[in-house]
Amino acid sequence: MIQLIKGFKDILPEETALWQYIEKTVADIFEDFGFREIRIPIMERTELFARSIGEDTDIVEKEMYTFADRKGELLTLRPEATASVVRAYIQHKMYAPDPVRKLYTVGPMFRRERPQKGRYRQFYQINAEVFGVASAYIDAQLIIMLDVLFNRLMIKDIRAHINSLGCPRCRPGFKNVLDDFISSKIDRLCADCKRRKDRNPLRVLDCKVPSCREAMADAPALIDHLCETCREHFNTVQEILNAQGVEYLLDKGLVRGLDYYTRTTFEIQTGALGAQNAIAGGGRYDRLVSELGGPEIPAIGFAIGFDRLVEVALQQKRSLDHGPDVFIAALGEKSRQVAFEWSCDLNRTGISTDMEFADKSLKSQMKRANRLNAAHVLIVGENELAGGEIILRNMDTKEQLALPIEGLVKLIRDRIREDNIIDR
Ligand code: HAM
Repeated sequence: MIQLIKGFKDILPEETALWQYIEKTVADIFEDFGFREIRIPIMERTELFARSIGEDTDIVEKEMYTFADRKGELLTLRPEATASVVRAYIQHKMYAPDPVRKLYTVGPMFRRERPQKGRYRQFYQINAEVFGVASAYIDAQLIIMLDVLFNRLMIKDIRAHINSLGCPRCRPGFKNVLDDFISSKIDRLCADCKRRKDRNPLRVLDCKVPSCREAMADAPALIDHLCETCREHFNTVQEILNAQGVEYLLDKGLVRGLDYYTRTTFEIQTGALGAQNAIAGGGRYDRLVSELGGPEIPAIGFAIGFDRLVEVALQQKRSLDHGPDVFIAALGEKSRQVAFEWSCDLNRTGISTDMEFADKSLKSQMKRANRLNAAHVLIVGENELAGGEIILRNMDTKEQLALPIEGLVKLIRDRIREDNIIDR
């Protein structure tokens, strides 16, 4: 039998309800914060990612799915969405009427990493990007928006880690200090780091090889070498978060795995996922729009790891795999005919239904309703039809209600809508 590709996965119907619920909640909250959806392709020219994420990053060096198409053009399955959103922003001159744009996009990304719990080769991201705002308010607002989302989803055991990676003005001074430190540890570093030292020393800070981590444990941090403007910017971000009561941890070691960041960077980390502790990550990238050929426009954004968010939600028992609102148990052919009509009418009014089409006993139909996790069962037999009253059983409370056949669909609909409002 042909199996799934390693590191790829199917999302089965038992889980899709939760994915849909999260996606809907994301759209509601992001739209409240002024974001609009953009949909971008899953493939781009390789050069776009190499130039934006950085030639020396793990993603570009080792993890991209890149191939030559039939005409020899190098294409890559996107490992992240920011580069594509920036390309679209520039290509469609979205800055022309007003440089300020807030865009979000949801979809699959591809990285050929070593698969493990919380780490896949195809994974999904919920991505948000803001263009044209240099103010520290927007940095804080994105972290607040994540806080609102995780609260709404009732996700616990998470913490925002924040750091600043400075700007081209503070970097050169820091690189000299870092260079001296790396030189003093050079023997203990892996071959990749030895090579990266001169080309891109900041990447040495992000190496995952245990011996490098140990050697770099007390490396100097950029945050202690910020220029005055970057320091003020970062202080303001923290003041706003404090004023809003959003908890965070100042994490000097947070360097992020992509080259385009400047100033504020952040991750939302969780203790619930073992080694893969980042549930979201992002930061400012004030130079990327111009580096990719657009005007000088500042930008900032983040991506949530959708798979990881779902895993944490499931661990915290946020399963939303609800069954049909009404399962109709029909006994006998005549009842089935009527049941089918009611089922269609209920579906038309927005009530989800399921029913048994085969000739099964009431006991076996009740079992199936249970298995489907139906909220109610409507029981229809010849006797009920003759007596003019049908039983609606609430599967949660076990309460049974006798409803008249006359106006039945409307009665059920009103009853269920009322229940749903109370549930919420
Ligand atoms: P990133 O930190 O590479 O940032 O990824 C963001 C999130 O995607 C991670 O925190 C994690 O939850 C999830 N993720 C990454 N790799 C995997 C994987 N192999 N399996 C499962 N989940 C994964 C970016 O991608 C940036 N583009 C974020 C950004 C947007 N920065 C500015 N704007």
